[in-house]
Amino acid sequence: MTTRRSDTALAHAGRDRQLSAGTVNIPPFRCSTVLFEDLAAFEDHSQGSEAFRYARDGTPTARALESAYAELEGAAGAVATCSGLSAVTVALSSFLRPGDHLVLSEGAYEPTVAYAQGVLQEFGVSVTLVPPAIGGRIGEALQPNTRIVYLESPSSGTFELQDLPAIAAAVRAAAVQRERKPLILIDNTWSGGLFHQPLSLGADVVIQAATKYISGHSDAMLGLVACNEATLASIRRNAKLQGIYASPDDCWLGLRGLRTLAVRLRQHMATGLALAQWLAEQPAVAEVLHPGLPQHPQHALWQRDFSGASGLFAFRLQRQYDREALRRMLDGLQLFGMGYSFGAFESLLIPVRLPPHRSTAAADDRPLLRLHAGLEAMEDLQADLAAGLARLETA
Ligand SMILES: Cc1ncc(COP(=O)(O)O)c(C=O)c1O
Repeated sequence: MTTRRSDTALAHAGRDRQLSAGTVNIPPFRCSTVLFEDLAAFEDHSQGSEAFRYARDGTPTARALESAYAELEGAAGAVATCSGLSAVTVALSSFLRPGDHLVLSEGAYEPTVAYAQGVLQEFGVSVTLVPPAIGGRIGEALQPNTRIVYLESPSSGTFELQDLPAIAAAVRAAAVQRERKPLILIDNTWSGGLFHQPLSLGADVVIQAATKYISGHSDAMLGLVACNEATLASIRRNAKLQGIYASPDDCWLGLRGLRTLAVRLRQHMATGLALAQWLAEQPAVAEVLHPGLPQHPQHALWQRDFSGASGLFAFRLQRQYDREALRRMLDGLQLFGMGYSFGAFESLLIPVRLPPHRSTAAADDRPLLRLHAGLEAMEDLQADLAAGLARLETA
């Protein structure tokens, strides 16, 4: 673990003159076969040496990215994967076995829940969904066979925060009579790994969809899993045996993105907060779901556990506008694009359809919209939104 401030770490982490032959950033090592020097090196490799001997087991580009991300998260190590979702599935499948129980926040990214309920349950894992803001009451959901508590903070779509220290305390308390403590896994994509350090708050494994803020330019698919000492070897082994491979081009883009993460995120935060505050005052808007706003029910938690916000939040419209009104609003936007993902320089606005397992939040049938504030000028984005909200009302 390092004591470097995160801005400094982002500029220097993962750099190795020998690996990169002196270049500042490491280039993408596109390869499959790596030739052994001689029989001794070949034999050494089959004994488990860490030297680069086949691209699927890692390239210098992937190692550089992993080491930089591990430093950012204060982790023992990290494993790069081919997408954010593969980071989720590799992490979960590293520990769950038939007969195990998984406690999963309802607010997790929808494909994470689909993987748990679809694939893991078929492999004999039982799954209990818990409300996203459950906090220390999570103890009530733990069973003797609970192996993993899986969290995401804030929740996808509805932006509830997890009280991670309270959850970690409840898990530790429940672990007293067991052989092993359930592991806490958390998706930390919203904070980009910069504004929230879950390992220091009691998590064992942190998942990052590096496709988003870390890459930052909508041009790479990448996942990262940051691990504590106890979990690293299992996750690395599982990723390797599943043939999970992060492409060197995408690792290179991810590493390149990391170098500017801090300045980009601060700008996303400033624009996102300004737009959130402005939206909260608009008559067409019922509520804004952004933990950085004082009216968010868990604002105090955000102030305690996060050192900033990204540019992603949601807002609910005041009433049930018909589809035609929504179409007028969204299709007429000049700057906000409609597309999945987030975290890059361009702003996005999409309607959120909460899945049926989000029973409480899904019961509200007023339109919910998810906004990603990009790097455009805040005033231009605000004007685009103002015109969009006005179009809701014009027949
Ligand atoms: C919170 C969260 N986790 C994981 C993912 C999956 O990332 P990817 O699209 O890179 O597979 C996403 C994607 O939107 C996400 O929002």
